[in-house]
Amino acid sequence: MSDDWRQGGFGVYIHWPYCLAKCPYCDFNSHVSNEVNHAHWRAALLSELRYTASLTGPRRVDSVFFGGGTPSLMEAKTVSALIEEIDRLWGLKPGAEITLEANPTSVEADKFADFSIAGVNRISMGIQSLNDDALRSLGRMHSVSEALSAFEIAKKQFSKVSFDLIYARQRQTAKAWFSELEQALELAVDHLSLYQLTIENGTRFGELFKRGKLRGLPEDDAAADMYIGTQQVCADYGLLPYEISNYAKLGAESRHNLIYWRYGDYAGIGPGAHARLTLDGQKTAMHTEKNPAKWLKMIEKYGNGYFPSEVLNPEDQGIEYLMMSMRLTEGSDMRRFESLSGTGVSASKIQNLENMGMIHNRNGRLIATEKGRPLLNSILSELLA
Ligand SMILES: C[S@@+](CC[C@H](N)C(=O)[O-])C[C@H]1O[C@@H](n2cnc3c(N)ncnc32)[C@H](O)[C@@H]1O
Ligand code: SF4
Repeated sequence: MSDDWRQGGFGVYIHWPYCLAKCPYCDFNSHVSNEVNHAHWRAALLSELRYTASLTGPRRVDSVFFGGGTPSLMEAKTVSALIEEIDRLWGLKPGAEITLEANPTSVEADKFADFSIAGVNRISMGIQSLNDDALRSLGRMHSVSEALSAFEIAKKQFSKVSFDLIYARQRQTAKAWFSELEQALELAVDHLSLYQLTIENGTRFGELFKRGKLRGLPEDDAAADMYIGTQQVCADYGLLPYEISNYAKLGAESRHNLIYWRYGDYAGIGPGAHARLTLDGQKTAMHTEKNPAKWLKMIEKYGNGYFPSEVLNPEDQGIEYLMMSMRLTEGSDMRRFESLSGTGVSASKIQNLENMGMIHNRNGRLIATEKGRPLLNSILSELLA
């Protein structure tokens, strides 16, 4: 029985697919609906959870993550029922991290106390910007002042709080970003997620971009400078990058996300969720129906919304492990790569990348350098060619 996953741990991801409005940049599986039957959703998520536990058998849970969509729109009763059921089915490890993604509107902040009572101990808040004009361009439903008061409430209710910002936005200079970032760092506790704006196909920004109507985006070079500067500004405040877009004080890293990047096992519950589960000793990829209405119908019919699962062969496991772990500043362990994939990466490829200043090789652990981090895709192509 392969227990490689234990090197990353075991987490449970739960997807809530609804939002108050669709943001123009977002290609997550998120939908707007004013007809959400919460009791129905609660029963459906619980059903898929039970089915998943019947596959894995007993194991202890390191972390739970409510993501979306906007899970802060869930009823606290649903969050509570799911946490209780996870504990009953598998057992939560003492001090397990339980994160909920929240949008910082006042409606949602009013529910924080109930989420905390339900067992949530970490909030990841989508503040996105500390500039009201930018929030409007990003189609957000909150103002800066609303976000700040929601953050204050969150700090009182939860032992861990983090927030997300998006940079390299339209008409944003590096200078303006660094000053916004400093403001954020003054507020931040010990964790921030800082994402460069990406223009995704199928979003409103994607459509505007194709028609040449999304003006004022920084050129690639300027965005790369913003990325490098971001690391420096964060370091001045003691927040270090532990992953491409995630910065934390030592010990404050998101344990749930580390499970993905350390190639642990995770269950994926809810529409469009992905899972990697070691079943009968075989690393298995699973995913559910994406469309919320169709997913609900599948639950009614089968008790779960999974499509047929796929056992990953050693080569795929090696590729996935490398792609995930190279995002981390702790890097990728070549012994683990070899034990998963059955082959090693050639010493000459590693040497070449080292000579180019793209990676360090620390006793068989490959780590992208500051110069290499923005070019991770090229590093991966070279290592896996
Ligand atoms: C699942 S999403 C959103 C969670 C929550 N609904 C919210 O909007 O705050 C998680 C994060 O991804 C980031 N994100 C989503 N789309 C992005 C894009 N196109 N470019 C950069 N960051 C993006 C945002 O910072 C967002 O907070
Ligand atoms: S960014 Fe968040 S609130 Fe906006 S559509 Fe995506 S998931 Fe929903």
